[in-house]
Amino acid sequence: MLQRPRRNRRSEVIRSMVSETSVSLDSLIFPLFVVDGKGIAEPIKSMPGISRLSGDLILKEIESCVKLGIRSFVLFPAVEDSLKDKVASYAMDKNNFYLRCIREIKSRFPEVCLMSDVAMDPYSSDGHDGYVEDGQIINDKTLPILAEMSVLQAEAGIDIVGPSDMMDGRVESIRDALDDAGFYNTSIMSYTAKYASAYYGPFRDALDSAPKFGDKKTYQMNPANKREALIEARLDESEGADFLMVKPALCYLDVIHLLKENSELPIAAYNVSGEYAMLKAAGEKGWINYEKAMPEMLLSITRAGADVILTYFAKEFAQLRIEKKA
Ligand code: PBG
Repeated sequence: MLQRPRRNRRSEVIRSMVSETSVSLDSLIFPLFVVDGKGIAEPIKSMPGISRLSGDLILKEIESCVKLGIRSFVLFPAVEDSLKDKVASYAMDKNNFYLRCIREIKSRFPEVCLMSDVAMDPYSSDGHDGYVEDGQIINDKTLPILAEMSVLQAEAGIDIVGPSDMMDGRVESIRDALDDAGFYNTSIMSYTAKYASAYYGPFRDALDSAPKFGDKKTYQMNPANKREALIEARLDESEGADFLMVKPALCYLDVIHLLKENSELPIAAYNVSGEYAMLKAAGEKGWINYEKAMPEMLLSITRAGADVILTYFAKEFAQLRIEKKA
């Protein structure tokens, strides 16, 4: 035998030397759920280890993450029902707790990278990402709302806006509005290939944002489709996106790979709440070795082609890495 692939696997040092992929803390974005108030930490039942936090505790959480080497965050608001309406007007209240929290984070930690969520669902009494009329999600009436949300977030100091709504043409509307307002340095990470997935369940528990009727299949993509992701990617690129995202990650590794092969933009993947919940639950039951399975999951998403990963595992991954090195 001239070739014995096992030779390159025979010791830890050699295995590390020939390792093709590694997960960098620099590429991880940690999602945080913010609520109005002070001193509030409400654990999310279907996401063990993750809580809805008030702004003061978000600052503490960011401080402890930064110490561990996590420097990027994405912020989602959990808005109480009484503030929700058809046009997401609370999102436009310049003094709402979400924008206040963005301002506080950026003034306390100017060096961190902060990303927002741009969609109507956290503020919408219909629980949909777009504007609803007669049971339909109206694309073009949603665009100015998303554009206004983005400008307000940019004013508050956000580094990257993240349109997660899947309306057609929203990247262009947002880019135009940001540029008109002088925020030409605010980036757009577009949820390019966002699928109508069952894996968002725990996130909708966290925000209490499940659709009040129907589902999201008229705007989010059909899990059966792959070529269609290329159409979305082409559009987002031409409309001015700075990053393309695939969501969820684990069941869509082929789509991550496809976009990576077909775009020069950085590719992000959202390792979503259901993926987190599955692994946590199996780990808690002792059915899987969580500490090994979790880094393997992040590694596989990186190997598929993700330059950036939004993941609820980020903090624990950083902690584990420090423990392993100690
Ligand atoms: C909604 C939004 C969702 C997620 C991020 N933004 C849920 C949805 O589309 O219903 C899901 C994130 C996760 O599951 O971790 N704009």
